Amino acid sequence: MSPLVLYFIALAIFLYLCFLNLRTSHRLPPGPKPWPLVGNLPHLGPKPHHSMAALAQKYGPLMHLRMGLVDVVVAASASVAAQFLKAHDANFSSRPPNSGAKYEEVAALTRALARASPTEAVNLGQLLNVCTTNTIGRVMLGRKVVGDGSGGRDQKAVDFQSMVRELMVLSGVFNISDFVPALEWLDLQGVAAKMKKLHRRFDAFLTEIVEDHKINGFNGAEMHNMLSTLISLKEEGDSDGLKPTDTEIKALLLNMFTAGTDTSASTVEWAIAELIRHPRVLAKVQQELDSVIGRERLVTESDLAQLTYLQAIVKETFRLHPATPLSLPRIAANSCEINGYHIPKNSTLLVNIWAIARDPTIWADPLKFKPERFWPEEKMQVLT
Ligand code: HEM
Repeated sequence: MSPLVLYFIALAIFLYLCFLNLRTSHRLPPGPKPWPLVGNLPHLGPKPHHSMAALAQKYGPLMHLRMGLVDVVVAASASVAAQFLKAHDANFSSRPPNSGAKYEEVAALTRALARASPTEAVNLGQLLNVCTTNTIGRVMLGRKVVGDGSGGRDQKAVDFQSMVRELMVLSGVFNISDFVPALEWLDLQGVAAKMKKLHRRFDAFLTEIVEDHKINGFNGAEMHNMLSTLISLKEEGDSDGLKPTDTEIKALLLNMFTAGTDTSASTVEWAIAELIRHPRVLAKVQQELDSVIGRERLVTESDLAQLTYLQAIVKETFRLHPATPLSLPRIAANSCEINGYHIPKNSTLLVNIWAIARDPTIWADPLKFKPERFWPEEKMQVLT
């Protein structure tokens, strides 16, 4: 190697160290020592919310990680999360860039489950996904999107569910290119290529929905849904003359369907799994339903205020099985100070909901499924 090249390498290392020194002259929150270039990515493992919870045991509930070239701060206690999301909410209200009708549907689901043979297994996850997708479909489009909820195999529903699942998996991958932009062109984990392919599948699905809606969606009652409103806006503009493009409309639909389907379906699936594992809890909620609703009609939204034990079961399911264990990342619009530590501008914020909801200093028996912890005292005496 020529002396000139050696000189430039030494200069680059010197400048890099000066840069690091400059950054650390502010007191960053504690955290594990980052490796060169990749930073703390090797510390994450297959379940980042688990590894981050273990690291927080050592470094505390406000931790700094470096993912490639990106600063990441992790909030792993309720009080630290409140500092970011309440005291400094305006500063953390944006997301970092990365690569990437109600009762009818529930009644259809209930009928499908009631019809199922007692000796055969049903694919509850699949049925719940049909239910949540069609519920959002009714609000957004004024109609179902997939299947009829009868439990028969519907290829469109299967495809849609697999697309949403794949999107969640790909969005959850700690993509090295997001943290070391210089390596983006290599697409080391193939995330960008898979996202592009998935995007084409989603686009075909949504284009069909939007085009079909333009032809069939504008008769009478059908007008009262979000897509019709967006298509009218596209043609006439809002009060400021702003007109959403087809791409923006499809992006909004995608956002609602992806954010709302698998999250809701997997939460209900976990709740049912916990009820099967805890027959005492199941019997107690059945008793509450029998006494508040009876056996002649279905539950409606206005009954929920009286179904306090059911509410406690939902809260306990959210606690133990959060559908988004690290929430969704946010980005610091400006640098700020939290708990005496410097949080650099453009840091990514991750809130470890999974760890907070199992924090043994806050929850008694944190790993046990005990809806009673969310149940008002006075009710406890009536039903226990
Ligand atoms: C069990 C059900 C659900 C869970 C656990 C859940 C959880 C979350 C979480 C943790 C966030 C991030 C909040 C933050 O940044 O602090 C979020 C954002 C969001 N959720 Fe949900 N959600 C659920 C259902 C739904 C439903 C039914 C819809 C819509 C139909 C929906 C639409 C959204 C949207 C649009 C965002 C913002 C996305 C963005 O900023 O990119 N979610 N949700």
